[in-house]
Amino acid sequence: MEKNYSQAKQKQAKAYFHTLQAQIQQKDFAATLTETLYQYQQDKKKSWIHFDKGGSPPNRAFLSYLAKTGQLDSYLHRSISYIYFRDLGRDITSLTMQNRIAEVTESVKNYLHRKKQHVPFHMTELYQMAKKESLEEAFFWVMDKLQHISSILPEQVNKQEARRKIMKIIAGVIMHALEELDGEPSKSMRRELLDQAIRTGYYYGLTYPFIDDILDADVLTVSEKKTFAYFIKQTLLTGEVLPVKASDWQDNHWEFISAVHQELSEAFQYLQSCQPAESRQLFLENAYLFFEAQELDREKQLDNPDYTDEALYTSVILKSASSRLIIRSFKPFAEGDHIESNMFHYGLYNQLADDLTDLEEDLVNKNVTPYTYFITYQHQRNDLINPFAMYWSVIYYFIHKVYPGKPEIRNMILDRAINGFKRLKERLGKERYQELMQQFSFDTDLEKALEKIVNRNQHVAFFDKWIRDQFLTTLKQNEASKKQFKTKIQEVKDQIEEHLRFESEGGALEEAADYSLSGNAKRLRPMMTWIMAKEGYDLPDHLVLPLVKSIEYMHTASLIFDDLPSQDNAPERRGKETLHQKYNPATAELTGLWLTQRAVEEQANIEHQDSSRLLELIAYSTRTTQNMCQGQFFDLHTRGKSLTLEELESLSMYKTALGFEAAWMMPLIVAGASEERKQSVKRFARHAGIAFQIKDDVLDITGDSDVLGKQTGNDDRNNNSTFVSILGREAAQKEMWEHYLAARQELALLPDIPFFYQLLDYLILRER
Ligand code: IPE
Ligand code: IPE
Ligand code: MG
Ligand code: MG
Ligand code: MG
Repeated sequence: MEKNYSQAKQKQAKAYFHTLQAQIQQKDFAATLTETLYQYQQDKKKSWIHFDKGGSPPNRAFLSYLAKTGQLDSYLHRSISYIYFRDLGRDITSLTMQNRIAEVTESVKNYLHRKKQHVPFHMTELYQMAKKESLEEAFFWVMDKLQHISSILPEQVNKQEARRKIMKIIAGVIMHALEELDGEPSKSMRRELLDQAIRTGYYYGLTYPFIDDILDADVLTVSEKKTFAYFIKQTLLTGEVLPVKASDWQDNHWEFISAVHQELSEAFQYLQSCQPAESRQLFLENAYLFFEAQELDREKQLDNPDYTDEALYTSVILKSASSRLIIRSFKPFAEGDHIESNMFHYGLYNQLADDLTDLEEDLVNKNVTPYTYFITYQHQRNDLINPFAMYWSVIYYFIHKVYPGKPEIRNMILDRAINGFKRLKERLGKERYQELMQQFSFDTDLEKALEKIVNRNQHVAFFDKWIRDQFLTTLKQNEASKKQFKTKIQEVKDQIEEHLRFESEGGALEEAADYSLSGNAKRLRPMMTWIMAKEGYDLPDHLVLPLVKSIEYMHTASLIFDDLPSQDNAPERRGKETLHQKYNPATAELTGLWLTQRAVEEQANIEHQDSSRLLELIAYSTRTTQNMCQGQFFDLHTRGKSLTLEELESLSMYKTALGFEAAWMMPLIVAGASEERKQSVKRFARHAGIAFQIKDDVLDITGDSDVLGKQTGNDDRNNNSTFVSILGREAAQKEMWEHYLAARQELALLPDIPFFYQLLDYLILRER
């Protein structure tokens, strides 16, 4: 069965190759294309509105620029038409499709209009989109999965690219799913379909980093790669996942391989489970075909001078076609549908466009593509087809054979091609670009026409390219900001650590206090104080340090009490035995009390011209400790009780969020900030603190105790009423996100300190 399918597709690919080859050999091939280009240019000129000569602004301002200059409609229409044409394989000239495209264009426009000032692809944006469709669960799931695969993937694989690809594929599958929704499905039906689309997209997208990239990268040995490839093939041939055994892998690869195997098996099972029985075979066959074509490509060596054009191109055709058809195999094609044929034939265009873009990299890596092969052997093999001519032959095929007499299709395809050349030129620089064009030159008239159009035509941009660019920018910025955050945290932490200890003072309680203060504490609260004081109010060290110390002492004391046998009875804290275990409960109690008093003393000793501020500070912080005690009391006395959401929120507000509030508030008091500012910081701190406590509750069931530095499962053992025990994990996470979003909103009203945005993200994304 699979053999037949594979053979049929091979035949189809060969036939397509010969069609394209024959076109190139036609006498009027290049002349027809040149003429087509001129007709296109005429059409474009008619629709041009003449304002910008200076080109258009890049990235974020681009869309508002288009709107301002009246180009947004045609831009979106062009972009959406292309998606229907390329990704969904539709005949976009039909009336139904025209209506559908107009409809979608309008709703995208409205969406963009509502979202004027957003940072594209920030996770809050994605969360809100998911929330609108009640897809929070799937959102959390994907977030966890992406984090998981980042932790598995080795350094040699580009994680950012893996993320981008997976997200792109998820978006693609969602798009397919939306197109398949007939009429007006119920909300729950729609939810279910989209939920499935997200998971399908993830599991399918996963195969890129986990199969392709791993086989491309220098991670596994040659024989391991063979074993891996065999495993994939057998699984696709039999429809059953093969087990892997440790003896086939190097010791240092085994853990990685079993993690990959685990995830791929899960993917395979899931994908099969949501396929209708009749398309299961089709899926296996396309996936097999795809994998086989990739393998063939991978095995090709640039120093082998003997490949025929047929061999080179059929594998490229098969690869690009089958990868697209896999997505379609989740929904079988309707009878008499041209979708499959369109998708089969168009894939090559994308592949040849991509290969041209990646030429430099492919040459360095000695990858065989039609371009690298042609460059290497064109002088000794005059039978080789110029890949640039092949590229044009695909365009010719679509414009003149599939959609003859349809100028709208011609214009769209050529817009896309011209846009590709413009981008390539921008990327490579004028000189290198021209050199490249020279290398692949096959008809000077055509190339002259092309050059003219590439230089003159400003109106060929596409939305999906914008999305891609934005997405990459966002990913890069995230990456950079994470790094910056890490460095900054370390820096501030180092400076804080120096001042916290009592060792120089001697004494038993001092020693016990030092014990509790040390270990893998995150020092979040003193860090918040430090940054707020220094970056928000420019306070000098003699005012900042006592605040930093006192907040950490108050907090550490609260942990000592919380861990006591009479309270949470916890054995570990900050990666070590708890204080009462190391010494005894009496020592722990006295150290806790000692620390809270020490915190007040630190504040009282501050030298400040305005002593009323110090009194305010002491009144505030002692009140905070009292309130935190109330919170802790409430926590202990509601064990096993069913609390309402309000009660839960109030509980964690008191026991946790007030500590956060104090961290930010103390510098405000010392600096004499306005009442308005204080209220705003309070609101921010309360949401951030509650979000933090919910994450703490979640980590108590999902976390790794080695990473956390404290035992997990304590809440369950103590029968504590937490967000997780009362709402369930899912709803607890939703609640956490709500508080996170609310905190973000409040943060926008405060002085712009980027560190706090990063910190807020960290509060809910942290693993410890
Ligand atoms: C733990 O606080 C107590 C809670 C409020 C959940 P942290 O998680 O900030 O503890 P350390 O300071 O890093 O040890
Ligand atoms: C701690 O809450 C609240 C305090 C401020 C003491 P938990 O009891 O959940 O904190 P962990 O999990 O022990 O750190
Ligand atoms: Mg507790
Ligand atoms: Mg506890
Ligand atoms: Mg806890």
